[in-house]
Amino acid sequence: MKFHIKTYGCQMNERDSEAVSMLMLRHGFTKASSEASADIVIVNTCSVRGKAEDKALGKLGLLAAGKRDSPGRIVGAIGCVVQQLKGDIRRKVPGLDFAVGTHRIGTLPEIIALVMDGKGPIIDTGEDRVHESNLTLHPEGGISAFVNILYGCNRRCTYCIVPAVRGHEWSRPATNVIDEIRQLVSAGVREVTLLGQSVMSYGRANQVWPESHRSPCGFNEPLPRLLEAVDAVDGIKRLRFTSGHPSGCTEELARAMSELPSVCEHLHLPLQSGSDRILEMMRRGYISNDYRKAIECLRKRVPDIALTTDIIVGFPSETEEDFDMTVRFMDEIGFDNAFVFKYSPRPDTAAAGWHDNVPAKTKMHRNKVLLIEQDKRGLAINGRLIGQEMEVLVTGTSLRNSSRWTGRTRSNKIVIFDQIGGCERGDLVKIGIERVGEQTLYGKCNE
Ligand code: 5AD
Ligand code: SF4
Repeated sequence: MKFHIKTYGCQMNERDSEAVSMLMLRHGFTKASSEASADIVIVNTCSVRGKAEDKALGKLGLLAAGKRDSPGRIVGAIGCVVQQLKGDIRRKVPGLDFAVGTHRIGTLPEIIALVMDGKGPIIDTGEDRVHESNLTLHPEGGISAFVNILYGCNRRCTYCIVPAVRGHEWSRPATNVIDEIRQLVSAGVREVTLLGQSVMSYGRANQVWPESHRSPCGFNEPLPRLLEAVDAVDGIKRLRFTSGHPSGCTEELARAMSELPSVCEHLHLPLQSGSDRILEMMRRGYISNDYRKAIECLRKRVPDIALTTDIIVGFPSETEEDFDMTVRFMDEIGFDNAFVFKYSPRPDTAAAGWHDNVPAKTKMHRNKVLLIEQDKRGLAINGRLIGQEMEVLVTGTSLRNSSRWTGRTRSNKIVIFDQIGGCERGDLVKIGIERVGEQTLYGKCNE
């Protein structure tokens, strides 16, 4: 039986799909070359914004309706929307063969086997995290890999559905994380990104280190200690972690980022708003000055750190003045890149009870303004890189022009380059930057 997985949402969902895919292969299923040729179609859903949820439900609706023409085809949903809607998913998408929430995806092959036996439909949205050890497999031949270190989230940002969906924070034991990374690196992976909703909370809610563990660099906080231990894995070239929170931007983290050779000079640190009133309503746990201090702390040790962020425009009651504060604050910090989202009320969140009073048109306008401003800023920041030589991890040939290569800098910028000598996927090469766009650098490899 051939399967196909369609994924919506964040890196966490991407990683879940990858792990589920490996698990399916291990149970004797094979990968279909396309969705059309699949006997089993799995949709991994995202519920962070209304639009993401609608897209996934729309896709499922089409697939379920299509079953009339191809009886025997199995169609099911996994992920955040399932975990959130629970049994209601059957009402929203009649005809699904299975629906499995985020906590239960480690059982998917068994659930599909039951469906194949005629025991469906099966809905599993249990709260207990099961078969976590089933979800540590990675595809072969990768250069970059994502590794979960923290599940769930204990923050209660008033707009965010994630805590309701992904549950309480739970950090994986450091020894499990390191074992997984050792295996990846010995199989050829050169770059690892540690994943968690609020990754800087790693190890705060539960014990993650065996008593005997000592930190050679003298780190006490769990995330810097973990970075140190992963950095020590033989052969790892690049280490990243995402997403951050200002409360975790401590002296120790800054020191870890500057002293550990593999830890890259990049951080994704969602700001959400530059207005203190809005930040407080969002219950983000910081105001703009705390954010400013967090950046100062990092930049003192890592002066050339690249910073990326998320912004929400049109949060309930956001005025022109609040919005201006966001524009000004973004200008002050100087982000390398920003993802801008229009506020979308989500069920089971505190903000859902507040009047969503910013008109759609205003949200759209503010979104556009920020993107235009960010493009200008990104271009100026990238412009300073012209003439510099940067280390690039080669990821493959360029999609647009297969005679050119592509890769990423340590600061996570995409580079497109001509290769004069020979290079291969996975190589670390020095590229002279000749030209830049808002989000991409162009150059030449002279090696
Ligand atoms: N509306 C709009 N954007 C949201 N995000 C999270 N929840 C919402 C929401 N209800 C954005 C935040 C977060 C990113 C992943 O998605 O900016 O950092
Ligand atoms: Fe990721 Fe959140 Fe979307 Fe789930 S709801 S896929 S955690 S962004």
